Amino acid sequence: MTEKTVEIKISGKTIQAKAGETIVHALWAADMAESVKTGCAGGVCGACTVTLRYSDGRTGGTELACMKPVEAGMEIFPCPVAEDAPVLPVPNPELSTLQSAFPTLNRCTKCDSCTTACPMSIPVMDSVLRMQKGEFSAVAEDFTTCIHCGLCRFVCEDKVKPHNMGLWVRRSLGMSRDFPIVKTTAEQEAEQEWQYLLVEDREVRLQRARQFRSSGRIEP
Ligand code: SF4
Ligand code: SF4
Ligand code: FES
Repeated sequence: MTEKTVEIKISGKTIQAKAGETIVHALWAADMAESVKTGCAGGVCGACTVTLRYSDGRTGGTELACMKPVEAGMEIFPCPVAEDAPVLPVPNPELSTLQSAFPTLNRCTKCDSCTTACPMSIPVMDSVLRMQKGEFSAVAEDFTTCIHCGLCRFVCEDKVKPHNMGLWVRRSLGMSRDFPIVKTTAEQEAEQEWQYLLVEDREVRLQRARQFRSSGRIEP
Protein backbone atom coordinates (compact mmCIF):
# COMPACT_ATOMS: atom_id res chain seq x y z
CA MET A 1 0.00 0.00 0.00
CA THR A 2 1.42 3.42 -0.93
CA GLU A 3 1.82 5.85 1.93
CA LYS A 4 -0.32 8.95 1.78
CA THR A 5 1.67 12.13 1.30
CA VAL A 6 0.65 15.70 2.08
CA GLU A 7 2.08 19.05 1.05
CA ILE A 8 3.35 21.39 3.73
CA LYS A 9 5.26 24.68 3.59
CA ILE A 10 8.27 25.56 5.65
CA SER A 11 9.35 29.21 5.56
CA GLY A 12 7.55 29.54 2.21
CA LYS A 13 9.09 26.42 0.60
CA THR A 14 6.74 23.56 -0.33
CA ILE A 15 7.78 20.00 0.56
CA GLN A 16 6.10 16.59 0.53
CA ALA A 17 5.63 14.79 3.84
CA LYS A 18 4.22 11.43 4.92
CA ALA A 19 0.82 11.83 6.53
CA GLY A 20 1.11 11.41 10.28
CA GLU A 21 4.85 11.98 10.65
CA THR A 22 6.13 14.87 12.74
CA ILE A 23 7.28 18.14 11.25
CA VAL A 24 10.86 17.37 12.30
CA HIS A 25 10.79 13.96 10.61
CA ALA A 26 9.34 15.51 7.46
CA LEU A 27 12.17 18.05 7.42
CA TRP A 28 14.80 15.37 7.96
CA ALA A 29 13.37 13.34 5.08
CA ALA A 30 13.39 16.44 2.84
CA ASP A 31 17.04 17.09 3.71
CA MET A 32 16.06 20.36 5.41
CA ALA A 33 17.00 19.40 8.96
CA GLU A 34 18.66 22.73 9.58
CA SER A 35 15.58 24.82 8.85
CA VAL A 36 14.27 24.18 12.39
CA LYS A 37 16.55 23.90 15.42
CA THR A 38 16.33 20.47 17.04
CA GLY A 39 17.61 19.23 20.38
CA CYS A 40 16.06 16.25 22.15
CA ALA A 41 13.58 15.28 19.40
CA GLY A 42 11.31 14.16 22.24
CA GLY A 43 9.30 17.20 23.34
CA VAL A 44 11.53 18.16 26.24
CA CYS A 45 14.05 20.85 25.33
CA GLY A 46 11.91 23.37 23.42
CA ALA A 47 14.58 23.97 20.77
CA CYS A 48 12.20 23.17 17.90
CA THR A 49 9.45 25.71 18.65
CA VAL A 50 7.56 26.82 15.53
CA THR A 51 4.44 28.81 14.82
CA LEU A 52 1.82 27.39 12.48
CA ARG A 53 -0.90 28.41 10.06
CA TYR A 54 -3.42 25.91 8.70
CA SER A 55 -4.77 25.62 5.15
CA ASP A 56 -8.03 27.35 6.10
CA GLY A 57 -6.08 30.40 7.35
CA ARG A 58 -6.38 29.58 11.08
CA THR A 59 -3.26 30.35 13.07
CA GLY A 60 -2.10 27.35 15.04
CA GLY A 61 -0.14 29.14 17.76
CA THR A 62 3.15 27.68 18.88
CA GLU A 63 4.00 23.99 18.75
CA LEU A 64 7.02 21.73 19.14
CA ALA A 65 8.01 20.55 15.66
CA CYS A 66 9.34 17.25 17.02
CA MET A 67 5.92 16.37 18.45
CA LYS A 68 3.45 17.96 16.03
CA PRO A 69 2.23 15.74 13.16
CA VAL A 70 2.06 17.35 9.72
CA GLU A 71 -1.30 18.24 8.18
CA ALA A 72 -2.09 18.96 4.54
CA GLY A 73 -1.54 22.62 3.68
CA MET A 74 0.10 23.43 7.01
CA GLU A 75 2.54 26.37 6.94
CA ILE A 76 5.43 26.32 9.39
CA PHE A 77 7.40 29.32 10.62
CA PRO A 78 10.51 28.62 12.71
CA CYS A 79 10.61 30.67 15.87
CA PRO A 80 13.56 33.06 15.50
CA VAL A 81 14.84 33.15 19.06
CA ALA A 82 18.48 34.19 18.94
CA GLU A 83 21.03 32.18 20.87
CA ASP A 84 22.13 33.72 24.11
CA ALA A 85 25.40 33.13 25.96
CA PRO A 86 24.80 30.99 29.05
CA VAL A 87 25.25 32.60 32.48
CA LEU A 88 26.86 30.20 34.93
CA PRO A 89 24.81 29.32 38.03
CA VAL A 90 26.22 29.97 41.50
CA PRO A 91 25.54 28.09 44.74
CA ASN A 92 23.36 29.81 47.38
CA PRO A 93 22.04 32.56 45.10
CA GLU A 94 20.81 35.86 46.53
CA LEU A 95 18.88 38.68 44.99
CA SER A 96 22.06 40.73 44.48
CA THR A 97 23.72 37.77 42.68
CA LEU A 98 20.76 37.43 40.34
CA GLN A 99 20.71 41.18 39.69
CA SER A 100 24.38 41.26 38.75
CA ALA A 101 24.09 38.10 36.63
CA PHE A 102 20.99 39.53 34.88
CA PRO A 103 20.86 43.35 35.00
CA THR A 104 17.72 42.99 32.84
CA LEU A 105 15.74 41.87 35.93
CA ASN A 106 14.47 45.32 36.85
CA ARG A 107 13.44 46.31 33.34
CA CYS A 108 10.08 44.48 33.56
CA THR A 109 7.16 46.80 32.81
CA LYS A 110 4.53 44.19 33.84
CA CYS A 111 2.99 43.97 30.38
CA ASP A 112 2.30 40.20 30.88
CA SER A 113 3.10 39.36 27.22
CA CYS A 114 5.46 36.60 28.40
CA THR A 115 2.69 34.83 30.35
CA THR A 116 0.35 35.05 27.36
CA ALA A 117 2.99 33.60 25.02
CA CYS A 118 4.03 30.68 27.21
CA PRO A 119 2.81 27.35 25.73
CA MET A 120 3.28 25.69 29.13
CA SER A 121 0.96 28.12 30.99
CA ILE A 122 3.74 29.22 33.32
CA PRO A 123 2.91 32.47 35.19
CA VAL A 124 6.04 34.06 33.72
CA MET A 125 5.44 37.69 34.69
CA ASP A 126 4.42 36.79 38.25
CA SER A 127 7.59 34.73 38.49
CA VAL A 128 9.71 37.69 37.34
CA LEU A 129 8.09 39.72 40.14
CA ARG A 130 8.95 36.90 42.57
CA MET A 131 12.55 37.01 41.33
CA GLN A 132 12.65 40.74 42.11
CA LYS A 133 11.71 39.86 45.70
CA GLY A 134 14.26 37.03 45.91
CA GLU A 135 11.58 34.32 46.32
CA PHE A 136 13.73 31.74 44.60
CA SER A 137 12.08 28.51 45.75
CA ALA A 138 8.78 29.67 44.27
CA VAL A 139 10.55 30.73 41.06
CA ALA A 140 12.20 27.31 40.75
CA GLU A 141 8.76 25.75 41.18
CA ASP A 142 7.26 28.06 38.52
CA PHE A 143 9.79 27.02 35.89
CA THR A 144 9.60 23.26 36.55
CA THR A 145 7.69 22.65 33.34
CA CYS A 146 9.59 25.19 31.22
CA ILE A 147 10.61 23.66 27.88
CA HIS A 148 12.96 26.57 27.09
CA CYS A 149 11.27 27.42 23.85
CA GLY A 150 12.37 31.03 24.39
CA LEU A 151 9.00 32.56 23.47
CA CYS A 152 8.80 34.60 26.67
CA ARG A 153 12.15 36.16 25.77
CA PHE A 154 11.12 36.63 22.16
CA VAL A 155 7.96 38.62 22.97
CA CYS A 156 9.52 40.74 25.73
CA GLU A 157 10.10 44.21 24.32
CA ASP A 158 12.16 45.09 27.37
CA LYS A 159 14.56 42.16 26.84
CA VAL A 160 14.09 40.89 30.39
CA LYS A 161 14.98 37.22 29.54
CA PRO A 162 12.58 35.56 32.01
CA HIS A 163 13.30 31.93 31.24
CA ASN A 164 17.08 32.41 31.26
CA MET A 165 16.71 33.79 34.77
CA GLY A 166 14.29 31.01 35.77
CA LEU A 167 16.73 28.37 34.59
CA TRP A 168 19.60 30.15 36.35
CA VAL A 169 17.62 30.14 39.62
CA ARG A 170 16.80 26.43 39.27
CA ARG A 171 20.40 25.51 38.51
CA SER A 172 21.77 27.71 41.26
CA LEU A 173 19.44 26.17 43.85
CA GLY A 174 20.33 22.70 42.54
CA MET A 175 24.04 23.45 43.05
CA SER A 176 23.32 24.51 46.61
CA ARG A 177 21.94 21.11 47.64
CA ASP A 178 24.35 19.25 49.86
CA PHE A 179 24.16 15.63 48.82
CA PRO A 180 26.53 13.36 46.89
CA ILE A 181 25.38 12.57 43.38
CA VAL A 182 25.69 8.86 42.66
CA LYS A 183 25.26 8.06 39.00
CA THR A 184 24.01 4.71 37.74
CA THR A 185 25.87 2.91 34.97
CA ALA A 186 23.12 3.90 32.51
CA GLU A 187 23.50 7.56 33.53
CA GLN A 188 27.27 7.39 33.13
CA GLU A 189 26.87 5.85 29.68
CA ALA A 190 24.35 8.52 28.69
CA GLU A 191 26.81 11.21 29.79
CA GLN A 192 29.57 9.65 27.69
CA GLU A 193 27.23 9.58 24.71
CA TRP A 194 26.48 13.31 25.12
CA GLN A 195 30.22 14.09 25.34
CA TYR A 196 30.72 12.08 22.16
CA LEU A 197 27.94 13.90 20.29
CA LEU A 198 28.59 17.43 21.53
CA VAL A 199 32.12 18.01 20.28
CA GLU A 200 32.85 21.57 19.18
CA ASP A 201 33.80 20.91 15.57
CA ARG A 202 30.56 20.97 13.57
CA GLU A 203 31.70 18.49 10.88
CA VAL A 204 32.89 15.98 13.48
CA ARG A 205 29.66 16.48 15.40
CA LEU A 206 27.51 15.75 12.35
CA GLN A 207 29.60 12.72 11.38
CA ARG A 208 29.36 11.30 14.91
CA ALA A 209 25.62 11.98 15.07
CA ARG A 210 25.12 10.00 11.83
CA GLN A 211 27.26 7.12 13.09
CA PHE A 212 25.46 7.09 16.41
CA ARG A 213 22.05 7.16 14.75
CA SER A 214 22.90 4.15 12.55
CA SER A 215 24.76 2.03 15.12
CA GLY A 216 23.41 3.33 18.47
CA ARG A 217 26.97 3.14 19.80
CA ILE A 218 29.95 5.37 20.45
CA GLU A 219 32.38 4.57 17.64
CA PRO A 220 36.12 4.78 18.30
S1 SF4 B 1 7.16 40.42 28.62
FE1 SF4 B 1 8.95 41.30 29.62
S2 SF4 B 1 8.27 43.30 30.37
FE2 SF4 B 1 6.41 42.13 29.90
S3 SF4 B 1 5.87 41.15 31.88
FE3 SF4 B 1 7.15 39.69 30.76
S4 SF4 B 1 9.21 40.08 31.49
FE4 SF4 B 1 7.97 41.85 32.08
S1 SF4 C 1 8.66 30.08 30.40
FE1 SF4 C 1 9.35 30.91 28.43
S2 SF4 C 1 10.85 29.44 27.67
FE2 SF4 C 1 9.69 28.43 29.31
S3 SF4 C 1 8.06 27.34 28.24
FE3 SF4 C 1 7.23 29.34 28.84
S4 SF4 C 1 7.60 30.66 27.06
FE4 SF4 C 1 8.87 28.84 26.78
S1 FES D 1 13.69 19.04 19.77
FE1 FES D 1 13.50 19.18 21.93
S2 FES D 1 11.39 19.69 22.16
FE2 FES D 1 11.60 19.37 20.06
